[in-house]
Amino acid sequence: MIEFKDFSFKYKESENFALSGVSLSIQKGDFVGIIGNSGAGKSTFTYALNGIIPHHFEGDFYGEVNVNGLDTVEASPSQLALTVGSVFQDIDGQMVSSVVEDELLFGLENFGVPHDRIESRMVEMLAMVGIEDLRYRNISTLSGGQKQKVAIAAVAALMPDILVLDEPTAELDPQSSLQIFNMLRMLNEKMGITIIVVEQKIMLLSEFSKRLMIINEGRIFLDGTPQEVLKDTGLLRNIGVNCPRVATLAGRLIEKNLYKGDVPVNIGEAEIMVKRIIY
Ligand SMILES: Nc1ncnc2c1ncn2[C@@H]1O[C@H](COP(=O)(O)OP(=O)(O)OP(=O)(O)O)[C@@H](O)[C@H]1O
Ligand SMILES: [Mg+2]
Repeated sequence: MIEFKDFSFKYKESENFALSGVSLSIQKGDFVGIIGNSGAGKSTFTYALNGIIPHHFEGDFYGEVNVNGLDTVEASPSQLALTVGSVFQDIDGQMVSSVVEDELLFGLENFGVPHDRIESRMVEMLAMVGIEDLRYRNISTLSGGQKQKVAIAAVAALMPDILVLDEPTAELDPQSSLQIFNMLRMLNEKMGITIIVVEQKIMLLSEFSKRLMIINEGRIFLDGTPQEVLKDTGLLRNIGVNCPRVATLAGRLIEKNLYKGDVPVNIGEAEIMVKRIIY
């Protein structure tokens, strides 16, 4: 379980707080999507989770962040890394090897996996995420989507309880983005890994997340199921967050008293909504 207690943080070089008064908990096995404008504090939230704040970035730290009973201030970065796997905004900076299999082996060898388990764990993980064919490839020759899969597989191979990803599909086309989210869903469902993902593609987030959080100007602005969070499309437009078009349509229908039910967050749900209105 993850717990933030009245957490605030201001970077050393900065005048303003990047995050203020964050209090929330996240249960094991959840799939949390985070969205918000540039500079809202999304990456800062991920750094607070994996201990990069305060271990790497200095600044004013208030409140408390606990991850599986570890206080992120007291726990060491390597202790935290075993619990929280991270995939950063800049994955090229994250990769340490030139060949795919070495990228997975590196983590397994350095995080205390028994020697006789390492090879099988790597093979299992490559198969699980469907990239066995990339095993001997040079990372520099991979497409953006393939690279992202390798980065996620390398972190997931360490079997962290929690996986936090910062805009993993930022440079990917819709098809590859969908593949990445399907991969995250599989890790969530098959391995029980808690997923926390920052993402700008609202349609993907609302379709895959069990819980959706909107961060705005350093505060948790909305937090709930995608249906709850996307209900007030006007409010979201005001803070510059795009709604899925199906939710915007539902918002208009609700305003005009033509519809009363849940806000659809994908095409299938929108179809049900339309059928309920016209039949
Ligand atoms: N290393 C740093 N030093 C000083 N200020 C920083 C640092 N990193 C981020 N900030 C500031 O903290 C605030 C939140 O930044 P953060 O990177 O968390 O936003 P974000 O929501 O991830 O934005 P983006 O969508 O552009 O990635 C911004 O005002 C940013 O300028
Ligand atoms: Mg960011």
